Amino acid sequence: MKKLLSCFTGLVAAGTLAASPAWADDIDTKVESLLQQMTLEEKVGQLNQFTDFWDVTGPAPTGEEQEVKYELIKKGLIGSMLNAVGTEDVKTLQTFAVENSRLGIPMIFGYDVIHGHKTIFPLPLAETASWDLDMMEQTARVAAVEASAQGLNWTFAPMIDVGRDPRWGRVMEGSGEDPYLGGKVAIARVNGLQGDDLGAADTIAATLKHFAGYGFGEAGKDYNRADVGTVTLFNTILPPFKAAIDEANPRTVMNAFNTVNGIPATGDEYLQRDILKGEWGFDGFVISDWGSIEEMVDHGFAEDEREAARLAIKAGSDMDMESYAYLENLESLVESGEVDVALIDDAVRRILRVKHELGLFEDPYRYIDPEREETLLMSDQHLDVALKMAERSVVLLKNDGALLPLQAGERVALIGALAADKDSPLGNWRAQGEESSAVSLVEGFAAAGLNFSFSNGVDVEVGDANFASEVVVNTDDRTGMDQAIETARSADKVVLVLGEDALQSGEGRSRADIGFPGLQQELLEKIVAVNPNVVLVVMSGRPLVLTWADENVPTIVQAWHLGHQSGHALTNVLTGAYNPSGKLPMTFPRSVGQLPIYYDYLNTGRPGPRKEVFWQHYIDEDNAPLYPFGHGLSYTDFKYDRLRVRQADEGFEVSVRVRNTGKAAGEEVVQLYIRDHVASVSRPVRQLKGFEKVSLDPRQAQRVTFQLTSEELGFYNGRGEFVVEPGDFDVFVGGSSAATLSDTFTLKR
Ligand code: NOJ
Repeated sequence: MKKLLSCFTGLVAAGTLAASPAWADDIDTKVESLLQQMTLEEKVGQLNQFTDFWDVTGPAPTGEEQEVKYELIKKGLIGSMLNAVGTEDVKTLQTFAVENSRLGIPMIFGYDVIHGHKTIFPLPLAETASWDLDMMEQTARVAAVEASAQGLNWTFAPMIDVGRDPRWGRVMEGSGEDPYLGGKVAIARVNGLQGDDLGAADTIAATLKHFAGYGFGEAGKDYNRADVGTVTLFNTILPPFKAAIDEANPRTVMNAFNTVNGIPATGDEYLQRDILKGEWGFDGFVISDWGSIEEMVDHGFAEDEREAARLAIKAGSDMDMESYAYLENLESLVESGEVDVALIDDAVRRILRVKHELGLFEDPYRYIDPEREETLLMSDQHLDVALKMAERSVVLLKNDGALLPLQAGERVALIGALAADKDSPLGNWRAQGEESSAVSLVEGFAAAGLNFSFSNGVDVEVGDANFASEVVVNTDDRTGMDQAIETARSADKVVLVLGEDALQSGEGRSRADIGFPGLQQELLEKIVAVNPNVVLVVMSGRPLVLTWADENVPTIVQAWHLGHQSGHALTNVLTGAYNPSGKLPMTFPRSVGQLPIYYDYLNTGRPGPRKEVFWQHYIDEDNAPLYPFGHGLSYTDFKYDRLRVRQADEGFEVSVRVRNTGKAAGEEVVQLYIRDHVASVSRPVRQLKGFEKVSLDPRQAQRVTFQLTSEELGFYNGRGEFVVEPGDFDVFVGGSSAATLSDTFTLKR
């Protein structure tokens, strides 16, 4: 283990970890002096985070527990709260802490601000489909402005778990399957949330989550075990975390519910102490996930809650979210000598430091400004950002016969319950987004003056689809079917909106069948039978299996859950007012049996294609996905040529000419992939190493240049050592991971 870690040290030393700023010394002195005054009980107090009463994001506390919390706050035994939102509530709680506790240490207030706070943006996965890092930084900035205006100073975002199995409902919250893209998105989001000055009243601390391997839950089941080898851990799971820590200085990291190779991430000393805080030098604090300390008992990793507390603090989990395990056990564990007080001191220091950086010691009420709360939420400016982001998040999957954009005067049948749904576009994890407050597609069409008739078709779900209960899918109510078919029959074109309800993806929403829920597939087939001119708009929090649709429908648009401006943004895309530019951040499978599926797979010893049976394939399905990672069309065409690879000072310079050969102006995400021919560890058939979004008028051309450093050609080997090995590499440049324009270069010794 030691050997493995020493290799990381070299990388950190050579990396971009910023030197401590001058004020950091000052903070350290203040933290130290406060620490000296604290009793053991008060120290342990700082390590507890409890939920507020009215909005829970895990199993709800009972009434009795709630009463107890007020008493605990008064004694200084709660360091942080989550789910307390609004200046009034936060002020009440903060006043309790500051005025009643002996040392008056302010609490830090966290909340899941995942894709917007009051103004809701597209799902994080959808935003990633824009590949527009500036826009993602902007939406995170707006989210921070709004959250801080409601008294918050910390968010549990961004989630940067690499996700390769769309059965896992939480892929909606991440940035897809690729560690390189995921790292860039993580940096943009942390920068947006934390801004230039964490002490400013409109910036909030970010959390990288979930450390680590939560996206690799076996069979796509939430909370399930992740069994990953060293090569996958170091090359796929950890890189987005490392990139963000090196370049954006996130102040907190959340660990995870799952086990990684048999060890609960929350109790994993190697991951948290050795790698994160040791080799990477992370100096913020680690928060557990909700109850994940006590869950180590269910994992069969700790005998009881007391042992769970001991293992978690030892492993480097600094703050306990809602387990009560630290509160009830840490003091006596120290007194009995089972836990070294130095571990407690280290955790307290980290937490106090972040509180200082947030400016809470200077002014515990810094984030409590009713005027900001009154004026900033859902401002026109924020809604404008939401519109831009939503337009850029849409992916045009196919457009045979140029059915899109819709033409003026065409009679359109707009069909599907999701077209009129004002709630589902807000998606899961919508923070303070008000129920049913999004612009629906029906409203978008009406506002644009389109000539359309709406028909509901079939409902997606029935019953009470709220946070506490399961979504019940409609499997027998066909009463709207006939009318929808008639509406479709008489129209020039049909825009059919199908997919998932807001709560069919997200935490705890794994699905074994990722087709259209309920009767929607039946509706699709009946509509196609009466009118072939179907534009299928898919709203979902994950890639769905769209194979039948791909074979039978000329045009498909992936619309995710786009947030408040969904209806306007989609209308703009469908009419061509905005030319779609999104590219898939996850591979779309042909069938569930292909999962997990991703573009950077290994060649294997039997790559095929072969005619005989003994090569790696399915006998009943293609290997190829339905739509590859990075895929996305436009209403114009882009051609790539004149690829050049040159030796440069630091490595290689790769450049390519991109031309807009169609009739509309458009944006294209130019993607660069490499393949390492031979290495000491088998390397993926392709790996994303660069991308740039360019905007081109018709007939305009641009040369796009990428710098590829030698270090970027390196990888972690089977011992977790970072190595750069000389040899031949292919480079591919184009508009998706299936790009064919390529060249070869050699990295010399
Ligand atoms: C559990 C989720 O896994 C985590 O991401 C979230 O931040 C917490 N609940 C708090 O709501």
